Amino acid sequence: MKGITIWMLGLALSWSVSLKAQTDIKMDQFISDLMGMMTVEEKIGQLNLVTGGEAVTGSVVSTGVEAKIKAGEIGGIFSMSSPARIRAAQELAVKHSRLGIPIIFGMDVIHGYKTMFPIPLGLAATWDMDLIRESARIAAVEASADGLNWTFSPMVDISRDPRWGRISEGSGEDTYLSSRIAAEMVKGYQGDNLAANNTLMACVKHFALYGAAEAGRDYHTTDMSLHRMYNEYFPPYKAALDAGAGTVMTSFNDINGVPATANRWLMTDVLREQWGFKGMVVTDYTAINELVEHGLGDLQTVSALALKAGVHMDMVGEGYLTTLKKSLEEGKVTQVDIDEACRLVLETKYKLGLFDDPFRYCDEERAKTDILTTAHLAKAREIAGKSFVLLKNENNTLPLKKEGTLALIGPLANTGSNMPGTWSVSADLENTPSLLEGMQDALGDKVNIVQHLGANLLSDAAYQERATMFGRTIPRDDRPEAEIIAEALQVAESADVIVAALGESSEMSGESSSRTDLDIPDTQKRLLEALLKTGKPVVLVLFAGRPLTLTWEHEHVPAILNVWFGGTETGKAVADVLFGDVNPSGKLPATFPQNVGQIPLYYSSKNTGRPLADGAWFEKFRSNYLDVTNEPLYPFGYGLSYTTYTYSNIQLDKTNMKADEKITATVTVTNSGNYDGEEVVQLYIRDLVGSVTRPVKELKGFQKISLKKGESQNVFFEIGVEDLKFYNDALEFVAEPGDFKLFIGTNSSDVKEADFSLL
Ligand code: BGC
Repeated sequence: MKGITIWMLGLALSWSVSLKAQTDIKMDQFISDLMGMMTVEEKIGQLNLVTGGEAVTGSVVSTGVEAKIKAGEIGGIFSMSSPARIRAAQELAVKHSRLGIPIIFGMDVIHGYKTMFPIPLGLAATWDMDLIRESARIAAVEASADGLNWTFSPMVDISRDPRWGRISEGSGEDTYLSSRIAAEMVKGYQGDNLAANNTLMACVKHFALYGAAEAGRDYHTTDMSLHRMYNEYFPPYKAALDAGAGTVMTSFNDINGVPATANRWLMTDVLREQWGFKGMVVTDYTAINELVEHGLGDLQTVSALALKAGVHMDMVGEGYLTTLKKSLEEGKVTQVDIDEACRLVLETKYKLGLFDDPFRYCDEERAKTDILTTAHLAKAREIAGKSFVLLKNENNTLPLKKEGTLALIGPLANTGSNMPGTWSVSADLENTPSLLEGMQDALGDKVNIVQHLGANLLSDAAYQERATMFGRTIPRDDRPEAEIIAEALQVAESADVIVAALGESSEMSGESSSRTDLDIPDTQKRLLEALLKTGKPVVLVLFAGRPLTLTWEHEHVPAILNVWFGGTETGKAVADVLFGDVNPSGKLPATFPQNVGQIPLYYSSKNTGRPLADGAWFEKFRSNYLDVTNEPLYPFGYGLSYTTYTYSNIQLDKTNMKADEKITATVTVTNSGNYDGEEVVQLYIRDLVGSVTRPVKELKGFQKISLKKGESQNVFFEIGVEDLKFYNDALEFVAEPGDFKLFIGTNSSDVKEADFSLL
């Protein structure tokens, strides 16, 4: 029986393999035939990606798009939406260009399309892989209903520098967590069938190391050892590709002297030869042109360099369109280089089913029925509630009672447009409920909400203007700060409790929004100080696109709920959590430092040769600072709940493990408080002795469990040799025999530990 099953399985496998091979052969044949009819100009035209102008992130905007489509000079358009606009552009390509090759339509669908989910850093804080995948699935359903078939997501750049505004767009500091999320996002976008009319092709970005920009300044230089690249920064990109991501975007930065967009080692040796990627590589916005500024030569030279490096599609800059033919004639690139790039662009379109039906994503009906549905909004509210991280809750200040008078104060209390966060270009910001509206919706007249807004306390006007990216502004008034604060205090007077909605505006993080001071803006701090002086309980609802420095707030404010930017349903979701309908369960995907000087600060650092003793602060000739401890304010993986969890000691089923064996580690987690809740149980490992230095802890697993109050659950983790592997000095992926420590706990600092050995 068993033999038969295996035989049948084998047959099924060989059928599916041969089916795949047949599909590939069919595709190859189709594309070869098509390319046989194409002129050099038409082939180069396929490599040109232009913008439809809905979200502009650079100084150049595409022009003459209509004429270029007809001339066969455009392969793709991004930042254009709606079935009508896309159908019109597609018709030009299909009916009015010589060969009728369809266009691919892309967009930055980063954390939702019209139904916005939390910013990616917030999504990561849910540690909930199913929900993260579902958010990407919903984003794909909505975006494809609006005509799109390609998203520039997931962004998987590891960042350990919260000065960098784009830390908001990734999954934080950790390699393992980011890799898991990268794979789920790709599965959510692409589904099982790329040619279905409700899936998007994913584009993993920004390859590579964009999040390691020096000093956290956007677009800045990156210089990194191979050891760190392979062990810490590369795995999330690879995980997205292993999950099937169809395309890759280059990053703006240079890497050890060679900009990514011209980096043949990166784009060909690593990406194609080592990792076996077979899809198309697109540049970031005008990244080829920027190679001129990097100092690699004129536009013709750099365009040739990018093509030769293994970059196939040129976003906005038109270096390929305007110079490749000349370079071909001058022998600077070959016909093979151009053909290879053209083939990969055409394959992308083929896989999306565009040659079968170029209008498959232009369904006006779906645009009416599949966007902002009740189910999507409910999911957005659920996910937002799970992304919030309770940072402090002294004397159970939270949850609040649904009674009495509540003062809602602060510049972020009634700004709906500010709720979704960075990359919400496709969202209907005007109609996004604010925190005030969300609260009113949840509370009806059970609570008397008195409000005071004070929009110009957000930060000074010039700062806000610099931060504005997609033309979003927060209304300001011109009264002096003292007057505004006095009015806020008057409002607070009548209240039983004060909810202060403070922090960053959504545009203070994201692209081109690096900061060197990570405190909440001074004006808001002064307001907060005044509110605290009233002696009433103050809850800080903190909006942030990055880890902020909250040392002062932690000392003085009784309750702090970090809500990132939670998407369309932020207002309602915050009310759910503040009033205890949802028990917070988010955990930080990035360390919150005590001050900016500690950056980069991350839990998985190396021990050094002069480590500080556990719990010690300063010791001469040890690795530490004179003025601050080495500890973060809030460690990676941290987040409180309205209930409490206790962890038993760790049980190991064995303490010696052979390479082909597994160890099972078990802890019993008990909900020892007064609320039902969810807990993220985290597993970390430390390799105590290695041929290279190893981190003091590395996340290797986690489980999110639900526990009713009083309930206990045994949580099991299986550890195999794969979990112990790393890239050694020769860049071989190995596990080295020796002693290990295993930690399980509620965050990266607060853990139980056990020892085992790999034989
Ligand atoms: C960003 C990318 C984005 C692209 C297209 C660039 O400025 O770096 O992340 O996908 O613009 O909008």
